[in-house]
Amino acid sequence: MKVQGKGTKVVIIGTGFVGSSYAYALLNQEVVDELVLVDLNKEKAEGDAMDLNHGMPFGSPMKIWAGTYEDCKDADLVVITAGANQGPGETRLDLIEKNAKIFKSIVGSVMASGFDGIFIVATNPVDILSYATWKFSGLPMERVIGSGTILDTARFRFLLGQYFDVDSRNVHAYIMGEHGDTELPVWSHADIGGKPILTYVDEENHINMNELEKIFTNVRDAAYHIIERKGATYYGIAMGLVRLTKAILRNENSVLTISTLLKGQYGLDDVYIGVPAVVNRQGIREVLELNLHEDEQKKLHHSAGVLKRSNKARSQ
Ligand code: LAC
Repeated sequence: MKVQGKGTKVVIIGTGFVGSSYAYALLNQEVVDELVLVDLNKEKAEGDAMDLNHGMPFGSPMKIWAGTYEDCKDADLVVITAGANQGPGETRLDLIEKNAKIFKSIVGSVMASGFDGIFIVATNPVDILSYATWKFSGLPMERVIGSGTILDTARFRFLLGQYFDVDSRNVHAYIMGEHGDTELPVWSHADIGGKPILTYVDEENHINMNELEKIFTNVRDAAYHIIERKGATYYGIAMGLVRLTKAILRNENSVLTISTLLKGQYGLDDVYIGVPAVVNRQGIREVLELNLHEDEQKKLHHSAGVLKRSNKARSQ
């Protein structure tokens, strides 16, 4: 159990591209006091710990070491990035078979340590594996959080910022649903500095919906485009995981589009899916239920249906 007053401790399970990029970003953004790297390939974890420690004089002091599942006992967060990632042309849902198998063992090993903190799940298909982690761990849903569409929303805001030539931090727009091919843009609640984006389409700005829809398809298919070019994606998701880590450890009550269990919100039940939620030191404080347009609601339900069928298939 976490001793109150101790520094913050995060354990990363999996030091592949995503896990090691997340560790590097945590170090450079000075987020945690103790960071433990756990990987089946112990040498890789040890090498990453050494490499990061050697950069410590350029940053601020923290403890980083290659550890074991025992180190999860008093951790605030356990972040799971382990598993196979998408190959060229592979969908995230294609990874269910491979990654669900190892998750049962990973979550079992973490819980056997006496872990009583918060899980963050990043491995794909993240919505399915977040649901599985919740089931396998027996923890309350508030403390099992998937990265969800946190990166998709960032991609959406970045591309809209480029299109409208505005700082992406002043673009407020969400991607909801599966972190995957059935995700949806929430145009009804997208604005630039408070000016709804759809009003640009109506006014004489000659901004047509086709151009905006093209932005959305570039968001939805971004991972495929990156994987075609460099074989994997890791920097964007790692920075999204750091943003989520800060919201939790600093008790920020930040609104982020993460994957969480719905219990009637949006007319959906018993499914982990990407929605805007308030995140703080206890995990998920609440889901924000937006008044979606009818077509958005339909797309969200379609996405949830795909995920629920995949959950069912996985658990058989
Ligand atoms: C991506 C991975 C994290 O979207 O699914 O880049």
